Amino acid sequence: MADIYDVQGLRLSLADMARKPLFGAAPRHEILKGLTFRIARGEIVGIVGGSGSGKSTLGRALLRLLEPSEGRVLFEGTDITHLPESALRPYRRRIQMIFQDPMSSLNPRHRVGQIIAAPLMLHGVEGPREAALRALDEVGLPRGFAARYPHELSGGQRQRVGIARAIALRPDFILADEIVSGLDVSSQAQVLAILKDRVRDLGLTLAFISHDLSVIRRLCDRVIVLYQGQIVEDGPCDRVFADPQADYTRELLAAIPDPDPDSDWF
Ligand SMILES: Nc1ncnc2c1ncn2[C@@H]1O[C@H](COP(=O)(O)OP(=O)(O)OP(=O)(O)O)[C@@H](O)[C@H]1O
Ligand SMILES: [Mg+2]
Repeated sequence: MADIYDVQGLRLSLADMARKPLFGAAPRHEILKGLTFRIARGEIVGIVGGSGSGKSTLGRALLRLLEPSEGRVLFEGTDITHLPESALRPYRRRIQMIFQDPMSSLNPRHRVGQIIAAPLMLHGVEGPREAALRALDEVGLPRGFAARYPHELSGGQRQRVGIARAIALRPDFILADEIVSGLDVSSQAQVLAILKDRVRDLGLTLAFISHDLSVIRRLCDRVIVLYQGQIVEDGPCDRVFADPQADYTRELLAAIPDPDPDSDWF
């Protein structure tokens, strides 16, 4: 089957405002340094790396929120690297994102039902109200939560609303960027189990950005390790965890605390 993403030699530079002179343009800093990889349909891929390694920047490039300086991004065989916004419109529904901090990504003045229904209405989906309620069912939240405001939910519940909003659109691909880092371990486990179940039964493809290899190990089929804007390792989780090839991956693995044998992770 065709790959969802085919990324070839992706380079991306951003203006380094910290080193901007008083007059003149800020120097550009290369954040992504020639990344090549594919993501197959149905795959759950983890993207791991230290702070500043370029994970979120890569995510924004996949979503075409940022335009690469060099290289190509193909989505189901179509080159979307430099497509103008008007031509990107059909892809904006098919490619969804779940953000790290639901307190800032969910409009605090809107009720949960509106939050989930808004993108459905934007994209002209029929029966947005019913679709939003069904999405609440799918993430295991009572339908009555549609009338609540984000601040009336727990962190884990808010993150489930973020998942509901993304899956309600029936996208092909979801990017999740550090979506459980603010949660306690048991809410993390719940949110990840729901995400994994829905991704599998809706046949979606997921890229899951995290700095936490133990989370990636439990969730993902495959892992891409980023170090300073480059891929240092890319392979099936089983292989990478049993036999890491890159020194940096070995360092990351050594930093994982011993797994708790009694934990009932999914
Ligand atoms: N809008 C921006 N303009 C300029 N530089 C940026 C911008 N966003 C990120 N950077 C820089 O790009 C590099 C990679 O940042 P990025 O946010 O992709 O890292 P990350 O791997 O997601 O880190 P973290 O784990 O902390 O979220 C960093 O050096 C950062 O300072
Ligand atoms: Mg980030």
